[in-house]
Amino acid sequence: MSISKAKQELNWAELGFQYRQTDFRFSATYSDGAWSAGELLESPLIAVHEGAPALHYAQQCFEGMKAQTAPDGRVLLFRPELNSERMNQTAERLLMPQVPVELFLRGVEAAVRANYAWIPPHGSGASLYIRPMLIGVGENLGLRPARTFEFRVFVSPVGPYYKSAGMAVISLAVSEFDRAAPAGTGAFKAGANYAGGLLATRHAQALGANEALYLDSKTRTYIDEAGSANIVVAMKGNRFVSPKSNAILPSVTRRSVMTLAEEQMKMQVENRPIDLRAELPEFEEVAACGTAAVLSPVGRIWVDGEWHAFYGNGEKVGPVMQKLFDLLVGIQRGELADVHGWTHEVPME
Ligand SMILES: Cc1ncc(COP(=O)(O)O)c(C=O)c1O
Repeated sequence: MSISKAKQELNWAELGFQYRQTDFRFSATYSDGAWSAGELLESPLIAVHEGAPALHYAQQCFEGMKAQTAPDGRVLLFRPELNSERMNQTAERLLMPQVPVELFLRGVEAAVRANYAWIPPHGSGASLYIRPMLIGVGENLGLRPARTFEFRVFVSPVGPYYKSAGMAVISLAVSEFDRAAPAGTGAFKAGANYAGGLLATRHAQALGANEALYLDSKTRTYIDEAGSANIVVAMKGNRFVSPKSNAILPSVTRRSVMTLAEEQMKMQVENRPIDLRAELPEFEEVAACGTAAVLSPVGRIWVDGEWHAFYGNGEKVGPVMQKLFDLLVGIQRGELADVHGWTHEVPME
């Protein structure tokens, strides 16, 4: 097994958000109540038992993170301890073992370091997407938790989630489907939440939108989130509001952007339920935020059979989201001072 120190010759700026096989992945196994030390593997294939609970009962979860190259060549993660914490919250909810933060970070760092050749260089606009996953494997038939689990981390170089250089203005369509039940698993990064969303996304796309926007499933009144991103809204009166709901994923990006809006932009930040129809006239700028989406301005939302456009007739990036994007990405890429200690350097030796 040899780790290449030379970069791949890729057209980094042209990358989309697709899986691209890299050289190594990290894997550790949990059985008899203990984790193995973990190792780097070359094969992207996993051989699991046909009875594996991950396959039948979706006893599995994942995380999504990115590594970026700073101007001085350091490779930076963004708040990885929050992804570790969230994976463990999901694991607890799905009766899976905790992945100790030490193992989580070691696995992520090992997968990034071993695929140095695939980490997009600074200034390319691309990044290395990191996918930690925890799956219930091993023989099983009845509905009960697995006894054996794999923690795996693979990586893939990626470009923007929504095709366009820089900030793409996207559109959302309110879904006729629910994403998560009020006391269900919406706040956890369980794969089971996403299969049900595939059809919702397809319906949204048939309306010309990029993604589905989910309202709370109990009353269909308040904004929950988009298919793979949280929502933030700049409202009249210098307010920056994000929906409070126990059915949405606690986005690392959203939590960071709220801090930046408050501290750097001196906005009045509120985390509370947003009544979509009643508050629409107050919306100035809307954005979808997440590791993959970064901060994607939402130009238009389809609600009750009509489009509602925001800043610049729904075609332009507004000043609030532009500034927040620049601040967030500047910190993630090591270009701006990291006063909160959010970046985490991956040792390359
Ligand atoms: C449903 C959902 N909401 C929100 C997010 C954003 O979370 P984060 O900012 O931690 O990536 C994601 C993942 O990117 C997601 O899948």
